[in-house]
Amino acid sequence: MQISIIEKKESDFSCDALILPFIENDFSYYDNLIPTLSKQIHKVFQKEFSGKFNQTALISCSEDLKYDRVFFVGLGKKEDITSEKIRQIGAKAACSLRDIGMKDIAISSGLISSLGFPITNFLEGSLLSLYKYNRYKKEDNSNNINSITILSIFSKNLEDEIKKIKIVSEAVYFTRDLINTPANDLTPSELAEIAKSLKNEHISVTVLEKPDLEKLGMNSYLSVSKGSDEPPKFIILEYKGKEIPPVVIIGKSITFDSGGISLKPADGMEKMKYDMAGGAAVLGVLKAVSELNLPVHIVGILPATENLIGSSATRPGDIIRAYNGKTIEIISTDAEGRMTLVDAICYSKKYNPSLIIDIATLTGACSIAFGNTAIAMMGNTREFIEKIKISGLNVYERVWEMPLFEEAKEYLKSDIADIKNSGGKSGSLCSSAYFLYEFANPAPWIHLDIAGTAWNDKDKPYIPKGASGIGVRLLFDFISNL
Ligand code: BES
Ligand code: MN
Ligand code: ZN
Repeated sequence: MQISIIEKKESDFSCDALILPFIENDFSYYDNLIPTLSKQIHKVFQKEFSGKFNQTALISCSEDLKYDRVFFVGLGKKEDITSEKIRQIGAKAACSLRDIGMKDIAISSGLISSLGFPITNFLEGSLLSLYKYNRYKKEDNSNNINSITILSIFSKNLEDEIKKIKIVSEAVYFTRDLINTPANDLTPSELAEIAKSLKNEHISVTVLEKPDLEKLGMNSYLSVSKGSDEPPKFIILEYKGKEIPPVVIIGKSITFDSGGISLKPADGMEKMKYDMAGGAAVLGVLKAVSELNLPVHIVGILPATENLIGSSATRPGDIIRAYNGKTIEIISTDAEGRMTLVDAICYSKKYNPSLIIDIATLTGACSIAFGNTAIAMMGNTREFIEKIKISGLNVYERVWEMPLFEEAKEYLKSDIADIKNSGGKSGSLCSSAYFLYEFANPAPWIHLDIAGTAWNDKDKPYIPKGASGIGVRLLFDFISNL
């Protein structure tokens, strides 16, 4: 899709449909801007449209105008407008116009800019909403938009912003594609190949194979892979845009989680292909960060494996010695994510990181607590926790802090090992994070549980149902503000 910005008047530009945003009950802005449309605007305001938030109206234009249609969208009351609402309006306009077969659309940016909001909010909503996953469909007969043009009085400073939005949205598409791909095609090996495809002059990719991992003693991570014939792949990407201690981001990368011998119920198990959404987000972030040449140092780690049942699968009751020497008693083979993450966290300390972030579809309890409205966050560094919260608000991938109470330790006490991998379902959102904390501390560390937000069963304004790609925009924002 072509995205451009043009310093032209609305009346001089030709396209299939011109989008005009309106404040509720106020059409004064366009009276001077497009006098030829004035009459029609008044008419629409007398009838079907008042500019309420999310309200739309479509009119066909007379011959003397250069566009076929004008699409009205309501921003709502001036005092209630937010960046997020503008993203949602962008999504609404783009999807509505796509669905009726418009190819080349344009947005009049003046009103939104004059209200103090970047027009890139609108563009971001449009781009993110137009995502489709059709890899497995024989044919795709649905409509597509070819171009979006932003009509603006000043284009200079906007170009960089547009480039950023485009690259980050493409990274979200890339992440969503990975998550939506079924586990028979997205194996740990395939994930490693895709990671390697991101190699460039700033990104190096290393994949540790099973024998390497055995030598290193990553038995906690390896214990998860024992039920599968697919070999585990410990994928490391390093982007160095500056000589500083890195931020390590570790993404849970279980390409399919059956639960192992602690088998999950059949109902909904097909969705457990999304248990690598954390890893996919890490790849998306590195892709965007490198394409924009950010002056940062990031190490991404994806401890990829399947969690299946086979004759060599790890059993409940087994005791495993993790990379850092701690012994872990397996209570549930379905608490596999943390087994992979703790080895990755301990391994990552060799980089002397300024911060370790893990992002993981870790617990069903997260989804029960928050549905798909928030990411759960725990950590041991106040400074970074607050920064992540701000990024969450900036991009509307909201994050809610949960406690790391010392009492969670009680849940994880094992009679015969140093720790057990599950304290049961009760309180598992917090005890799972505490398990990670026991390995991460005292290194500065943040845990993000995206179990509720990584997948949507229903369409959201700019997230079509299926994989959301959550985490990419959040972590990109966080990293670019460092
Ligand atoms: N991948 C699941 C968590 C999950 C559940 C993600 C539903 C997305 C939707 C994780 O590996 C898991 O199975 N967690 C268990 C932990 C329990 C055994 C302590 C859970 O939450 O039930
Ligand atoms: Mn599990
Ligand atoms: Zn899992």
